[in-house]
Amino acid sequence: MVPLYFLKCVVSFALFAQAVGALDTFIAAVYEHAVILPNKTETPVSAEEALLLMNKNIDVLEKAIKLAAEQGAHIIVTPEDGIYGWIFTRETIYPYLEDIPDPEVNWIPCRDPKRFGYTPVQERLSCLAKDNSIYVVANIGDKKPCNATDPQCPLDGRYQYNTNVVFDSEGRLKARYHKYNLFAPEIQFDFPKDSELVTFDTPFGRFGVFTCFDIFSYDPAVVTVKDFQVDSVLYPAAWYNTLPLLSAVPFHSAWARAMGVNLLAANTHNTTMHMTGSGIYSPEAVGVYHYDMETDSGQLLLSELKSRPCRSTPPAEVDWSAYARSITPFSSEQADFPGMLYFDEFSFTKLSGSTGNATVCQKDLCCYLTYKMSENRMDEAYVLGAFDGLHTVEGQYYLQICTLLKCQTTNLRTCGEPVGSAFTKFEEFSLSGTFGTNYVFPQLVLSGSQLALEEYYEVSRDGRLRSRGGVLPVLVMALYGRMFEKDPPRLGQGPGKLQE
Ligand SMILES: *[C@@H]1O[C@H](CO)[C@@H](O)[C@H](O)[C@H]1NC(C)=O
Ligand SMILES: *[C@@H]1O[C@H](CO)[C@@H](O)[C@H](O)[C@H]1NC(C)=O
Ligand SMILES: *[C@@H]1O[C@H](CO)[C@@H](O)[C@H](O)[C@H]1NC(C)=O
Ligand SMILES: *[C@@H]1O[C@H](CO)[C@@H](O)[C@H](O)[C@H]1NC(C)=O
Repeated sequence: MVPLYFLKCVVSFALFAQAVGALDTFIAAVYEHAVILPNKTETPVSAEEALLLMNKNIDVLEKAIKLAAEQGAHIIVTPEDGIYGWIFTRETIYPYLEDIPDPEVNWIPCRDPKRFGYTPVQERLSCLAKDNSIYVVANIGDKKPCNATDPQCPLDGRYQYNTNVVFDSEGRLKARYHKYNLFAPEIQFDFPKDSELVTFDTPFGRFGVFTCFDIFSYDPAVVTVKDFQVDSVLYPAAWYNTLPLLSAVPFHSAWARAMGVNLLAANTHNTTMHMTGSGIYSPEAVGVYHYDMETDSGQLLLSELKSRPCRSTPPAEVDWSAYARSITPFSSEQADFPGMLYFDEFSFTKLSGSTGNATVCQKDLCCYLTYKMSENRMDEAYVLGAFDGLHTVEGQYYLQICTLLKCQTTNLRTCGEPVGSAFTKFEEFSLSGTFGTNYVFPQLVLSGSQLALEEYYEVSRDGRLRSRGGVLPVLVMALYGRMFEKDPPRLGQGPGKLQE
């Protein structure tokens, strides 16, 4: 029997045992926030109006922060764009921005609010942290003046950055992170010149921080974990789920597991935009998650985490192509056919029969599936799919994906379209592929968009995603691989990117 990485977690506590006040565990909170959006406008509102709107959102966040603190939380993460929303131009977001200093200045805005000009939002967030003795993580906009001495300075004489701020439990500005991998539609913000690797230490472990689309990146996402040995990542997001493969909860939980860190993911909530899916994930398990396409309400989540989870070298020690390279491809009578998933053209092959083996290949990637269904239903169709290529819409990044998914109908043209429920039960499965990367993020989603619990599947060291008992109504399962070395320098800025 090969060891399984879910169960392998060697921790060296000795290093930390003597640290004064060190905590073995802590309580993490995230808040999924239904952001109150400003009215659409083509001319900028006044600074007063902007503050009025931001204070409405902070009023809601304040309730969540207080509730979290009362329940013993040490830290709370709130979402990206959580204080003013996302529908802006460069000009119309300007009244919402504040100058956010480098945390080196050692500043507690709640005690000294005028030190860096007019900064009412930072003052209020700092006071919420201090008065409730809790670390507060929020996402706001930074403005930095520049001039002709800087050839990159925008024509309007300022940089505008999508920024995460962290205030410690005394209200001190502890960390500031400028989002490096802007998502293609974020025209209101500038790309920072360099990636910032922001980390800081607390009595409950070392933290890293980045934002939404950054999670697809090598820099800063992987670098923060690998080179800076963080224990936990603070992760505000405004993530709209593009089903079936890029739903927030399955993707984020898979990332935490593969990278061997805790991930505190706070998403915005807007069902029209398909924004939902927040959670607190550890390398061993999903602590708690929230996915709600029914209501318009926010949701507070709390979970206890180890301050220092497995310190194995990420990604978890799986040789993702070992098994797939060792076998001879299954012969197949089924012809491949193309199908689209989030603008990527996959090669699909239909599963025929209730038990069998299937193979599908694209370029360098061959995907293999061995499966057993309890019943071969005539009203549902499943395909095995492979994609090996550069994704080029709303950002550019290189993917290798093996997926098993249920088609929306039995018409094979619907394979890859979102689908909500499945009645076919899988008793056994083993999915693998000839990956050229070890950064592979396994996902398994069941009927009703439910995340499959860890006890129902495992990843073997030779790179198979396998069943472990149970009878599962599989909606989609995937080995989602990233080949960072084939990415353009910045995911949001590759040549030929789609504008607006
Ligand atoms: C949006 O406009 C409506 C109608 O003019 C107004 O009642 C409302 O307060 C505005 N909302 C915001 C957030 O400014
Ligand atoms: C603008 O340029 C002057 C030199 O001409 C420089 O002293 C000043 O610091 C610059 N201001 C900013 C915000 O970069
Ligand atoms: C959700 O977002 C859309 C588009 O940004 C917006 O028009 C809509 O009003 C939002 N819904 C809610 C409930 O705020
Ligand atoms: C699938 O392949 C395995 C060998 O990998 C073989 O033992 C098994 O009989 C095959 N099943 C079917 C239904 O062809």
